[in-house]
Amino acid sequence: MTGAPNGVPMEEPRGGEHAPVLRNAAIDALAIRADGSYVDATFGRGGHAGEILGRLGEEGKLTAIDRDPEAETAAALLFQADSRARFVRARFSELGRHVESASADGVLFDLGVSSPQLDDARRGFSFLRDGPLDMRMDPDAGESAADFLARADEREIAGVIARLGEERHAKRIARAIVAARASGRIATTGRLAGVVAAAVPGREPGRHPATRTFQALRIHVNDELGEIERFLAVAADCLRPGGRLVVIAFHSLEDRIVKHTLRALQQRDGLVQVLTKRPLVPSSDEVDRNPRARSAKLRAAERMA
Ligand SMILES: C[S@@+](CC[C@H](N)C(=O)[O-])C[C@H]1O[C@@H](n2cnc3c(N)ncnc32)[C@H](O)[C@@H]1O
Repeated sequence: MTGAPNGVPMEEPRGGEHAPVLRNAAIDALAIRADGSYVDATFGRGGHAGEILGRLGEEGKLTAIDRDPEAETAAALLFQADSRARFVRARFSELGRHVESASADGVLFDLGVSSPQLDDARRGFSFLRDGPLDMRMDPDAGESAADFLARADEREIAGVIARLGEERHAKRIARAIVAARASGRIATTGRLAGVVAAAVPGREPGRHPATRTFQALRIHVNDELGEIERFLAVAADCLRPGGRLVVIAFHSLEDRIVKHTLRALQQRDGLVQVLTKRPLVPSSDEVDRNPRARSAKLRAAERMA
């Protein structure tokens, strides 16, 4: 799975696997037709994409999108010579460039980062594994977390940590980060985790003190909330009437935007009908098997004529 906050407990499995979260619920919500045309806008390691492909007949089509180059490698392995499937390395807000308007029967977004991204110390997402402080899903684009912390002033850093991490000690942490820069660039996850831990008073049980700061930086560096705002309208436009839009979110900041944007697409624009009055959440069995699923929420909508 996935889109987990960076505070993954130590006991979770490592390795290159990603257990797709809410797999059955997502597949049911897509109401897959064997000859339909589907988009998995967050391919990851292909857990959901493989399920979709398995339900398509010879006439079916799947477009998989991800901005991570390692997802591209995984897609090449999964799709091999399957002419029904193609992979596009792009941001999902660019969907409109790769999928024709009113052509898709379903679009799936499983937001956040994948387990292999979190677990690979070289990607710099996790305070549990020391590595370069990068955090970019697409390492070829934009500013790394280390570059941001080296460039931004204390006020900007505090704003990001407060808004995107909902961290009440944001000002204190930003002050400590700026002070730490005096003795050299904060270039590793381990150094940042140490600076934050020393700045935060007290301890929340079961939670590393840097959890919220890492979440905030990851969301900021990847412009995750901006991407969500942009993609929902584009995705609704890609759907043909009756087509399904399915979104799995992993924290309240994401889910709030999904909920409000879907509502606006329904009430203001009359573009979709929201199918989930309340979001679907994983069973306790799924959370036991895959703790990263614990905060997942699935919302679905259907494109109107
Ligand atoms: C939670 S994982 C998806 C896992 C996938 N459903 C699976 O079963 O393997 C999210 C993936 O979406 C990608 N991603 C996140 N935001 C993106 C964006 N704005 N554009 C393109 N890809 C994005 C990440 O690189 C990551 O691989």
